[in-house]
Amino acid sequence: MTQVKDQYEAYPYPERDPADERKRLIGGSPSHPLEIDHFVFAGKRDWSRPLRALVAGGGTGDGLIQLAQVMTRLNRPYDITYIDLSQAARRIAEERARVRGLSGISFVTGSLLDAADHGPFDYIDCCGVLHHLPDPQAGFDALAAALAPGGGIGLMVYAPLGRSGVYPLQQAFGALLADQAPPERLRAARAILSRLPQGHPFRTNPHLVDHEQSDAGFYDLLLHSQDRPFAIDELIATLDRAGLALSGLTQPALYDLDRLLPKGAQVPDTLDAPARMAVAEKLRGTIKTHVAYAVPQARAGQARARPRDLSLVPHLRGAAPAKLAQAVAAKGQIRMRQGSLQIHEPLAKSAAPLIAAIDGRRSLSRIAAGAGLDPVGFQAAWAPLEHVLGDWGLLLYAQGAG
Ligand SMILES: C[S@@+](CC[C@H](N)C(=O)[O-])C[C@H]1O[C@@H](n2cnc3c(N)ncnc32)[C@H](O)[C@@H]1O
Repeated sequence: MTQVKDQYEAYPYPERDPADERKRLIGGSPSHPLEIDHFVFAGKRDWSRPLRALVAGGGTGDGLIQLAQVMTRLNRPYDITYIDLSQAARRIAEERARVRGLSGISFVTGSLLDAADHGPFDYIDCCGVLHHLPDPQAGFDALAAALAPGGGIGLMVYAPLGRSGVYPLQQAFGALLADQAPPERLRAARAILSRLPQGHPFRTNPHLVDHEQSDAGFYDLLLHSQDRPFAIDELIATLDRAGLALSGLTQPALYDLDRLLPKGAQVPDTLDAPARMAVAEKLRGTIKTHVAYAVPQARAGQARARPRDLSLVPHLRGAAPAKLAQAVAAKGQIRMRQGSLQIHEPLAKSAAPLIAAIDGRRSLSRIAAGAGLDPVGFQAAWAPLEHVLGDWGLLLYAQGAG
């Protein structure tokens, strides 16, 4: 653990200047309250009750600041514990919270393996951390033990294929530079990287950018001493051993085998859901991270919002309903860029008025009534929105968290 701690003391991650909090809020997944409600509380959390949250391995604070700031803006009560091994990262996270005037956060320097000592928690954020533990399973187990019975975890772990080229370089730099101090290691690795021959998988991988953005990013990507990616079926098995079940992935479309196979292609019955997703991950080939929500196994299948409940309130995330509705009405498709991902899917023009009716306040039953549809007709009309917008993480259900 000390090498990992030394790294994050020298290069707190991600590199952030607290003064930038005056200019912008960094948003992302996991841990936006909309997503938390959708994946952990079936879209029906009562946000007037305080949310007890843990940000485990909070680093310089991106997830922490997003959660605390959105809750503060919505005037929702919360009590957040931040824990991280690195004092340098904690100082930056604390300063970011101070600049924003955020309260309700307890900062702890320590290991997430002791999470249960600070709990129990309704929600745990653990983004980009568990794959850096010497024994990741112990980390999953510790977080599961810190959950309140109705709670859940939002997590991100690295995936192997989108990071192609990274692991041979981590191993080479580890063998060559292990006994140097972090700044020398960084200098030497940059010099070696600049001579990397054409055709090296790292040079041909267009999805990796962290090393170009900051010293901390370079170090985290290429000089980490402890880093193991998870294929999606390995992640599901690890959750299972911790007594957890996958509630959902933020972009299930990425793992949808049918989207990758020719129409009518046969998939052997012997493949269960994790095995199908694992095949899709191999065929897609570019998944860099898995962003997922997990809940105790006792709540498997109950934690994620399902639109058959017409009292749910839909939200569009990352898209303006009127603009999206207009584009669908005109072209019968959606086209969007999300990071390095180009989303392009057909969506019937008849879905446009339903999209336009999403305002984060109207329930599905009100949208159905507005469209003159009975419940059965509405489910049929809504299903394509779920398939396209829901599967790409744009459509979430939540009450009072938007
Ligand atoms: C890649 S950074 C991620 C930071 C933050 N979660 C984010 O997504 O921006 C990993 C963080 O995990 C912390 N960390 C690693 N092992 C830990 C452990 N056992 N307990 C607590 N924090 C840990 C590191 O100090 C570092 O700040």
